[in-house]
Amino acid sequence: MLRFGIIGTGRIGDMHARIIAMQPDAAVTWCFDVFEENARRTGEAVGAKATTDLDALLGADDVDAVLIATPTNTHVEMILRSAEAGKPILCEKPIDVDIERVEECREKLKAFNAFIQLGFNRRFDPSHAGVKDGVANGEIGDLEMLVITSRDPGPPPPRAILEDCGGLFRDTTIHDMDMARFVMGEDPIEVFAMAANRVDPVFAELGDVDTAMIVMRTPSGALCHINNSRRTNYGYDQRVEAFGEGGMIRSNNHRPSEVTRYGAKGTATRDELMYFFIERYRAAYEAEIRDFIGQIAAGKPPNVTFEDGRRALILSEAALKSYQTNQPVKVDYT
Ligand SMILES: NC(=O)c1ccc[n+]([C@@H]2O[C@H](COP(=O)([O-])OP(=O)(O)OC[C@H]3O[C@@H](n4cnc5c(N)ncnc54)[C@H](O)[C@@H]3O)[C@@H](O)[C@H]2O)c1
Repeated sequence: MLRFGIIGTGRIGDMHARIIAMQPDAAVTWCFDVFEENARRTGEAVGAKATTDLDALLGADDVDAVLIATPTNTHVEMILRSAEAGKPILCEKPIDVDIERVEECREKLKAFNAFIQLGFNRRFDPSHAGVKDGVANGEIGDLEMLVITSRDPGPPPPRAILEDCGGLFRDTTIHDMDMARFVMGEDPIEVFAMAANRVDPVFAELGDVDTAMIVMRTPSGALCHINNSRRTNYGYDQRVEAFGEGGMIRSNNHRPSEVTRYGAKGTATRDELMYFFIERYRAAYEAEIRDFIGQIAAGKPPNVTFEDGRRALILSEAALKSYQTNQPVKVDYT
């Protein structure tokens, strides 16, 4: 039985806690949040103690591992305090929005033999993982092009979340940067990005963009295209398409059901797409938790690492720099 302390019980922390509580070999014993009501709400839902004192959670005998789901700008502090307390960590993405802070964290972590898994949940989505497996098994021969479409449903999240999230490239595109590395099996070395404000004035007010198209090149010569929007009017659009001489492998969008209707208003009409990440990636979040529990039980290292989080952020920063300078950017991972 792996007993979890949840650090941050907002949107995603509350969801993770409820998934963990349903696992036969895991439990949530403590919930920490600076907002007492949030800690108490999740704690009551999963049968855990609630606290606004992080030391109470980190010092508790009945916490074997922690899940960090506080706002991004607190992750580095939470990672270092949890590592110092000797707790295995599952930390939400991104590690931070500032690569310098990530580098400092990496240096400080050398003092601990910390187990840190990064929350790139999309790797665990059965459909996206199917594309990765097909590419890795050589089903399409050499990968020539990868197309990742990742568009959020509107309206935009609350302004307070947008203010702290680090902007489109480092908050949202980072998932796609990780997906690109995951499926291609190599690290892009050149990035070119164009971006625009097409969706909602709030993004321009915050100095951010809401629409982006990115092209990347890998050492083998494969190309990757990512397109992002902060709004669709048809649900969460999440597709991954790999192309090569031997064909194409595509991960399609998900719907609540596979019913097809025919009538006076149209033919072959289907349900709208699942609304957002909590619905669309439900299976992925559960598989992510299962992988974390399994690796710890087996005494093995995490499958999604701090270094994966660092490299995805380097790519996001390269895309941002490319957009700002209107130039292709060579990527340096050292
Ligand atoms: N993997 C995914 O699909 C995914 C999806 C959404 C969010 N996230 C990530 O999860 C993190 C949290 O996002 P969210 O949408 O749940 O945000 P949120 O604002 O809903 O939740 C954050 C919680 O942390 C609490 N909090 C704020 N400051 C704190 C502090 N200093 N110490 C402890 N708790 C504090 C807040 O009270 C809130 O309950 C972000 O890093 C985000 O990038 C990942």
